[in-house]
Amino acid sequence: MPAASSNSYHTNDGLERAIVDLVRVGTRGHGAGVRQLAARLMRSVPPGVHNTESFRDAVHTAIAAGSDITELRYTSGALPTEADSAHPLVDVDVVPDADGLVLDPAVMSQLKEVVTERERAEELHSAGLGLTRSILLSGPPGVGKTMTARWLARALNLPLVSLDLSSVVSSYLGTSGRNIKSVLDYAKSGPCVLLLDEFDAIAKRRDDDADIGELKRIVNVVLVELDRWPDTSLLVAATNHPQLLDSAAERRFDRLLSLGLPDANQRRSVLQHLSADAGDMDQSVLSIVTELTDGMTNSDLARLWLLARRRAILTDVPVGDVLLNELACHMPDPGPRRDKLFLTLRDALELSNRQIASVIGVSHPTVASGIKRAEGARNGGRTG
Ligand SMILES: Nc1ncnc2c1ncn2[C@@H]1O[C@H](COP(=O)(O)OP(=O)(O)O)[C@@H](O)[C@H]1O
Ligand SMILES: [Mg+2]
Repeated sequence: MPAASSNSYHTNDGLERAIVDLVRVGTRGHGAGVRQLAARLMRSVPPGVHNTESFRDAVHTAIAAGSDITELRYTSGALPTEADSAHPLVDVDVVPDADGLVLDPAVMSQLKEVVTERERAEELHSAGLGLTRSILLSGPPGVGKTMTARWLARALNLPLVSLDLSSVVSSYLGTSGRNIKSVLDYAKSGPCVLLLDEFDAIAKRRDDDADIGELKRIVNVVLVELDRWPDTSLLVAATNHPQLLDSAAERRFDRLLSLGLPDANQRRSVLQHLSADAGDMDQSVLSIVTELTDGMTNSDLARLWLLARRRAILTDVPVGDVLLNELACHMPDPGPRRDKLFLTLRDALELSNRQIASVIGVSHPTVASGIKRAEGARNGGRTG
């Protein structure tokens, strides 16, 4: 994280520090960091600046260049801050990036429907119908809940305002009710996508032993807000633990979307997207990697890919070989799965035993006997 030296540029040396921070982050080519610093500059304009409003406008125009986001709300100059410090409670991403999001087609079509509703809001309104105002995303860690919120904000051309409820609740329980209320008020005051991440941190079942009065109060604040949420903004809540939500909380949302582990088609698309900038990836290797990554999350895939890319460059080995080697290393060895991998490598990639041995990092007699076993199992399966 390209953290600036302090959260505010509102001091005498603010202007100088802002410039130095921007140069530091900018030279690293860290676009998201530059945008984050620019957002901070807009809400905490250094004293040296002549005309605060036109400065904000200029910074805003500079950030928005290259994107078609038109509507931002920094005119009030203040994001909600934590009660007793000036620490901002939320992150604002004005140009959220969710390139390469791959989801189950049924879930994706619901997301697209949410976008279409807003494009054709007038038709719906004149028929006396409202828009989807709130969505609950649930699913295990690493399947794309946060990324989906970014995707929605991007598709709707709205800034993404994010609040991590687990950190708010754990660090300032005494004041969390007030803090959360101020974030909700801010998000309601103009168009945005509000992401309430780790939503279960507050919406635990109310019969939970660990439940205390303050937490109950917070849940009620949020539930009441959900009921009267305006359709100018979209509220997205995300949780890894839907079973912790009570059904009253769940019922308040307009749509419940459940994200699961990626199936083979999704894993293939994710890998294809990840490898798009690394030149031509052998399609047979891609198929084998797709098969071997069964059970992984999308975020596992992204991590595996980055690791393989780096190692491929450092060791001057094709990235496909690095991937296969890495996956083979995590297989229980020796065993039928690894034997089957040897066979697949020979049949699909037409590799020799020696080549397979060097990709996987075993001896070639090991490959030879593994292939024999795998063939035996295959033939046994056929005749038996
Ligand atoms: N559905 C997906 N499609 C493509 N990439 C994904 C997907 N889900 C996760 N990723 C990758 O994993 C990273 C972390 O995902 P994230 O959205 O934070 O998961 P979650 O919020 O469900 O824990 C993303 O930044 C992206 O690189
Ligand atoms: Mg997340």
